[in-house]
Amino acid sequence: MQYDYSKNKEEHPEPIRAEVKGLIPEWLQGTLIRNGPGLFSLGETRYNHWFDGMALLHSFTIKKGEVTYRSKYLRGDTYNSNTQANRIVVSEMGTMAYPDPCKNIFSKVITFLSHTIPDFTDNCANNIIKYGNDYHATSETNYIRKIDPITLDTQDKVDYLKYLPANIVASHTHYDTEGNSYSMGTCIAEKGKTKYLLFKVPGGSRSDGSPPLKSAEVVCTVPCRSLLTPSYYHSFGMTDNYFVFIEQPLKLDILKMATAYLRRVSWASCMKFHPEDSTLIHLIDRKTKKEVGIKFYTGAMAVFHQVNAFEDDGHVVFDVICYDDNSLYEMFYLDKLKEQMGADTTYCKPKCKRFVLPLNDMGETGEDLVKLKYTTASAVKEKDGKVLCQGEVLCDGKPMTMGRLNSSLSLSLPLSLSLSLSVCVGLSHTHIHVFFL
Ligand SMILES: [Fe+2]
Repeated sequence: MQYDYSKNKEEHPEPIRAEVKGLIPEWLQGTLIRNGPGLFSLGETRYNHWFDGMALLHSFTIKKGEVTYRSKYLRGDTYNSNTQANRIVVSEMGTMAYPDPCKNIFSKVITFLSHTIPDFTDNCANNIIKYGNDYHATSETNYIRKIDPITLDTQDKVDYLKYLPANIVASHTHYDTEGNSYSMGTCIAEKGKTKYLLFKVPGGSRSDGSPPLKSAEVVCTVPCRSLLTPSYYHSFGMTDNYFVFIEQPLKLDILKMATAYLRRVSWASCMKFHPEDSTLIHLIDRKTKKEVGIKFYTGAMAVFHQVNAFEDDGHVVFDVICYDDNSLYEMFYLDKLKEQMGADTTYCKPKCKRFVLPLNDMGETGEDLVKLKYTTASAVKEKDGKVLCQGEVLCDGKPMTMGRLNSSLSLSLPLSLSLSLSVCVGLSHTHIHVFFL
């Protein structure tokens, strides 16, 4: 029987015993919290895109070989407004709501251009991020929602913009062994400049009980190569000493986004892949807080998940799941999901690629600066001093879309990587952590 992605899911707020197949070792204990879209229609209205659905939080508590499950809808402002109106009244990335009653859209365009982004949804259905001791449901807007990790109750709405100049923030965060969190956001058209910023949120609680983001510090910034078309990114890489940021030619057109409501198109339609552009790979030294001097680039690719990154003998190695275009997002329109169910789609298949960045560019023009024996990835020095990287394909066309390793555990490990991941129905982000030590 075909799975109906557009079907509204029931929540299970009270813990229920899950059926366990096989044996869970006694030592494995804890709670896995995930979220994803769960409600796709309200009254006569429905979302266009699977990612737009109302966030449904899930928890799986594992103890003494048994698993209990519970789920609860994230009761943010968006959820409350929609359910009270019994229709979709707040726009999402792939679905524009009309009328959107809380907004004077024309004035929003003006404020947008004078450095304030429109008031986005707080339907945080992408991922869970821990800042300090607080857990948050996140999307990629400036809003996150604190949640109770035990009851899954919705708590405070947190606005990044109160603490950092970040209009949008990537879904994925890294953690170090001390519990500090590292995230990445984009500051759009502030003082005539658009830039990416990496920021650190210290682990632990603040003594005055205020939100952990109050202690956030910008680690470094990377200038965007264009003012009004910043790259979209969903994750970044981190090793012991470096951050890896891929400035890909999958771009948000800010002017088009600002006028999307008036033109009756979705914000998602303003995100475009530019195959004629290159992909810049920024390597940032965590100690100096500056980019290394070498300019790395590769051909056009679309990346959502950076899987892993580590250092090895004077190189930074990182693995990504990449596509030749943005058809992955297109595939998840609910109408298309229905059409394509069970068919071999024409959408671009993923590749897991390994890239290697040499930390030393002393070499002849035309020389491959990668000296690692176990990879065919190359980084060739060009006349102008730039370094052209070609990735090694580790895996091609398998149904893997969403994978990441736990950076706090995998840092510096030269992993021989083999992943087989698939989208878990009902959870947009099920990350399977695999380690080959
Ligand atoms: Fe993700």
